[in-house]
Amino acid sequence: MKKGLFITFEGSDGCGKTTQLEKTASFLKENGFEVVTTREPGALDIGKKIREILLHHKGTVADRCEMFLFLADRAQHVETFIKPALGEGKIVLCDRHTDSTIAYQGYGRERDIKLLKDLNEIAVNGLKPDLTLLFDVSTEIAQKRVGNEKDRMESLGTNFFKKVRNGYLELQKENPNRIKLINANNSIENVFSEVKNIIIELIKNK
Ligand code: TYD
Repeated sequence: MKKGLFITFEGSDGCGKTTQLEKTASFLKENGFEVVTTREPGALDIGKKIREILLHHKGTVADRCEMFLFLADRAQHVETFIKPALGEGKIVLCDRHTDSTIAYQGYGRERDIKLLKDLNEIAVNGLKPDLTLLFDVSTEIAQKRVGNEKDRMESLGTNFFKKVRNGYLELQKENPNRIKLINANNSIENVFSEVKNIIIELIKNK
């Protein structure tokens, strides 16, 4: 049975969510909570091998292969890491999860969104985030932050990232209670103060 809290951090590459995740972890630890941080793809042993293929494989990776690799990574991650940590009452902060697949493979790659949602369900086997923070940033700012050293996914171009951003915004509209939209064009400290308020509210109402 799930006892802890599961919080996911989402947004396009370059949105700054990883910095915010680390700041959130420090804040919660300072306040006495047991916190673990993790990420998709590639938190654990099998996942690290999958991540290497997904981000750095030099040859062709077929879209459907890419989709199943992200989902395979998630299934293993949920079963062997996230669920056990939640069972021990921990707060799990996860850098990307199911919404990334809908935004990137669904909206970005234009694959069947309903099918991806069903496949996500199989991968997570009943798990659902208590809260998702969506860091929304203009595609131009995000691309600048990513810089020139791009991995396989980051190299997909501005048009792809516009579709991803739009996908995330659609998901937020569909799930306004779970997904909280955060304007990530602001400074790190301003963004974090918004994050902190949302997290405090979640813990108070737990
Ligand atoms: P990563 O280096 O973790 O990016 P970031 O620091 O921005 O989170 O790389 C993960 C990449 O994989 C990123 O471009 C988003 C993409 N991705 C998908 O396309 N689908 C997914 O289901 C997940 C989890 C990630």
